[in-house]
Order: sequence, then structure tokens, then C-alpha cells
Amino acid sequence: MGSKKLKKIISEDKQCLFQNYGDRLPVCFVRGKDSFLYDQDDKRYIDFFSGIAVTNLGHGNKEYRKTLHRQIDSLLHTSNWYYNREQNEAAGLLAKLSFPGKTLFANSGTEANEAAIKLARRYGLSLHKNRYEIVTFTNSFHGRTYGGMSATAQKKIHEGFGPLVPGFTYLPFNDIGKFRKALKKNKNICAVMLELIQGEGGIVIADPAFVREIFDLCGTKGVLTIIDEVQTGIGRTGALFAFQHFNLSPDIISLAKGLGNGVPVGAIHAKDFLAAYFPRGSHGSTFGGNHLACAAASAVLKQVGKKSFLANVNRLSRFFLNRLNHLKSEVDFIAEVRGMGLHIGIELTKPGARLVSKALDKGLIINCTAEKVIRIMPPLNITPEAARAGMKILESTFREEGGPGANP
Ligand SMILES: Cc1ncc(COP(=O)(O)O)c(C=O)c1O
Repeated sequence: MGSKKLKKIISEDKQCLFQNYGDRLPVCFVRGKDSFLYDQDDKRYIDFFSGIAVTNLGHGNKEYRKTLHRQIDSLLHTSNWYYNREQNEAAGLLAKLSFPGKTLFANSGTEANEAAIKLARRYGLSLHKNRYEIVTFTNSFHGRTYGGMSATAQKKIHEGFGPLVPGFTYLPFNDIGKFRKALKKNKNICAVMLELIQGEGGIVIADPAFVREIFDLCGTKGVLTIIDEVQTGIGRTGALFAFQHFNLSPDIISLAKGLGNGVPVGAIHAKDFLAAYFPRGSHGSTFGGNHLACAAASAVLKQVGKKSFLANVNRLSRFFLNRLNHLKSEVDFIAEVRGMGLHIGIELTKPGARLVSKALDKGLIINCTAEKVIRIMPPLNITPEAARAGMKILESTFREEGGPGANP
């Protein structure tokens, strides 16, 4: 049960830190290289998790490191009292790679969503004093601050924190009838916010027809569309942004996770007309978009935004989906394999925590969300060799867990 070194680290954790993450997996990573992480005893692991879809360029990426070193040597932070070339560059890249519009930087996904919620409300309230309601969907996840948490339609996230921020209407995901009805009945809706692939909810993909009709209805009623791309963005799904797969023109997208490849940075990017609803003094952040964060974001966007980079993500995606579907035919506890790009879920017929621990023992990092869904989210530039080696471990872990009939 772990080395002396690890025991000491765990004991310090229990003594010094809030235990809101419970018992963590028994490992402490101390360095990383490409798609590999190394623990306190220098054991090597293949990374199929990317720190929750964050380190999309892997660990120690050469170009990214060069940019970061340069920025650390020149300037980290000045605040938003001053102009900032790195913000301009990152925002310019976002506009070029997503849609023409304006960017506002934050520090995390939940803060990006707070900004999106506040912006949508100011827009709605400018039209009518009661027009501040926002529709979100069951099983969604939008963050842990009060706005993000209130937008999240999952009871377990709310527990013990009430009263929540008022004005959120939760509707069933992929049920267009309910959405149509709600929009017809309720004139106070100013925006709808959704993930196109629900990540924390278990890699649940939105039905394209559902999303198409949402956008059509919102377009006719002047209701804003907010796509939460915190997990799906920055190449994770094989397009730079998931909305591009669905051929949509959202009013606002929120970003974080992969945007900084590990340097905390979030953002909203919105159509130009919306910038008027955040006038001087209406919103802000001390750290939001500081020089380091934005240098990191630009370094990421320059690499991930390349067609050849995304083509490779899609090649890798086919490899993973093929192997996983084959595995599904071999063991009897996989209900479904689904995903886009390298945002892949293996839905099990039973809880997945044990598989995560077993894979970790064998040197593979995977994750389980929504209790039964194993998430496969390797760095987007994982080499075919590392992908194959990781899949071998995954397959043997699953086979040992049970072939046909082993787990009735
Ligand atoms: C879709 C989505 N939105 C928002 C968030 C919150 O991001 P953060 O943890 O950076 O606040 C997450 C985090 O998992 C997410 O997956």
C-alpha cells in the first residue's frame, strides 16, 4: 500500500488540506514528459486523462515551454488597469479560429461561465425587467461557484449549499418537445446554456437535431445561445470547438481547461454586439488574462489550431474507438463506447472505480465519471506507440475484470 515517501505525502495531505477531494488515488506525480507521468518513486504511467482534459499538448511540450519560459523571464502580471499585448494576441487567435467577436478572460471554467451568465442576464434585462432566466439541461456540469453550480442541473452538486441563484430552468437533455414548450410559455428566458458533449455527466452527446432546433428557436425569439466548451473545446473532440462539428453559430462560448494546457486560464468569446452589455466597471478580475495565462493560451492555440494537428486527433480517435469497440465485444460489462475525437466514454454496466485503481497499478491513468463511465482523454498529441501501450494495459485490465459470463 505505497512507499514510505507516499505514506508521508498522504499523511501531510490529511493534516494540512481540506478533505473535499476525499481519499485521492494513491499516487503523487512529480514530473511529466509527453504522454507520461512519473510518481514519487519514479514509476512511469501513461496518461489517458490529461488532468481532466487540460494538458492537451501533453507534458513538457517544446514550443509551449519555450513561450512560457520567455514570458516568465519578461513579465507575469500587471492587472487589467493596463493594456496587455498577450491578451490581444490570444483574443485575436480565438476570434480567427472560432468566430468574429470579442473575448473576456477569466481564471477557470466556472468563472468563464459566471461571465457568460452575467452577460446573458444584462442582455436580457436590457430588454425587459423580468427577462433573466436561463435554460440549462439535466446531467449538465457548469462549475462550482454559485452561478456555475446553480446552472448545473445535478442535485448532488447543490447539496447543502442552498439557496441557489434564482432564474435557472432545468430541462431534460435531448428532449426538444420540452424545450419548445418552455420557450413558448416563458417569455422571461434570456439564454440557453449547454454542453454539446456532457463531460462530467458521462460523455453524453447532444442529438444534432435537438441542438439544431434549439438554435433555430432561439434565433427567432432573440434568446442567446451559450455553448459551454470548457471540456469540449481546444481540439478535444477533433474540431477546435465542438460547435464546429454541429455547424452552429453560438452567441457565446465559454472556455478553460485545455486553453492554458495547465496554466489556469478561462475565457468567454462572444459575438461583437454583446460587448456593449459589459460596459466599463460591470465585470472584471485581478488575474483574468494576465500575461502568463495569455501567452500560454496563444502557444496552445497556435499548435492545436493547425489542420494537421486536428487531423491527427481524428486519426487517433479512430484507433481508440476501433480498439474499444473490439474490447466491448470481448467483455460483458461494457454497455456502450461513445465519443468524438479524444473525448471518449466507455459506459459500464457497473461502477468503474475498481478498474481505475487496477489500471493505475499497472501504470495507466484513466478516470471514471458519472459512476459508470470510464473516460479516455489522452493528450491530443499522444504518439501511436504510447496510445497502443496504454490500450494494451486497458484491455488487460478489462479482461481480468471479466470476460463473457464472469460478472453476471
Ligand atoms: C463543461 C464544464 N464546464 C465548467 C467546468 C468547470 O470548470 P473549472 O473546474 O475550471 O471551474 C467544467 C469542469 O469540469 C466542465 O467540464
